[in-house]
Amino acid sequence: MRCYDDVTELDFALADLPTLPPFDAAWMADPRDFTVEYAINPHMRAAGGELNEVDRAAARAEWAALREAFERLGVAVDVLPPLDGHPDLVFCANPGLPVPREVTGGVDEWVPSRMASAQRAGEVAHLAAFAEARGWRVAPLTGAAARFEGTGDGLWHPRRRLLWGGVGPRTEASAWEELAARYALPVVRLRLADPDFYHLDTCLALVAKDACLWYPPAFDAAGRALVERLVPRAIAVDEEAARRGFACNAWSPDGRRVVLQRGAEEVVRALRAADLEPVEVETSEFRKSGGSVFCMKLALPQRG
Ligand code: ARG
Repeated sequence: MRCYDDVTELDFALADLPTLPPFDAAWMADPRDFTVEYAINPHMRAAGGELNEVDRAAARAEWAALREAFERLGVAVDVLPPLDGHPDLVFCANPGLPVPREVTGGVDEWVPSRMASAQRAGEVAHLAAFAEARGWRVAPLTGAAARFEGTGDGLWHPRRRLLWGGVGPRTEASAWEELAARYALPVVRLRLADPDFYHLDTCLALVAKDACLWYPPAFDAAGRALVERLVPRAIAVDEEAARRGFACNAWSPDGRRVVLQRGAEEVVRALRAADLEPVEVETSEFRKSGGSVFCMKLALPQRG
């Protein structure tokens, strides 16, 4: 299979792709060490240029409430232990990509990331060991891509054997080439065009097999056309909600209920109008580091 960079290259219809099970289990990382100690994305500094100050008790309470919100939706949450000196581990969507057995045709595989920043590099082995202990075979990239940040840039299409791959400051185009070839998997590549939207999950949330939240100006024209062609119900998020509110960093475990940062009124209305059910949570301490709901968990199919 191949990567798709332009609508003119599309040679499949979503409805014809093999189906995948729901990704209704989640790993979350213990927020013990979460804080802002360095800046590797534009959200981590305040207007004056100084690092954002995190209220660590408030952060822990928000994390616990997010976990409860997931569990109330029936999500099985498994918690990754903390790792000394790794304040960003809580964004455990980033250090790897799960490629479930329904995609590989064999066993569950875990593709470790190649983090773009030295500060986060140590998270990769920690998460890979956690995955391995749960039966995932660790299957590293072998190609030349220097940057690949797991499900920060790699989004599984709900219920379809299709991957969306962001290309930008955190992931190189060639990483998607390698994965498309290795798994005979179609990968729709989207170029990120705005530094505030440094991971694909900051500007696109595939919340159901036919619906997404997205911020169109974060993409180039080819990317916008791909989303418009492949996602019939694409809900455009307003700039404030996307850029400051992280409304696109949302997650739906079931294609109906959508967990997102509180306060995006227009988005909430649009979700309801599309027969989706918003579940609003508070992640303001984590937004100070450039993350919210989606990247605070790693989603995967439940294994009995
Ligand atoms: N401070 C973290 C970083 O810059 C935040 C990561 C948030 N993850 C995400 N997928 N948006 O790497």
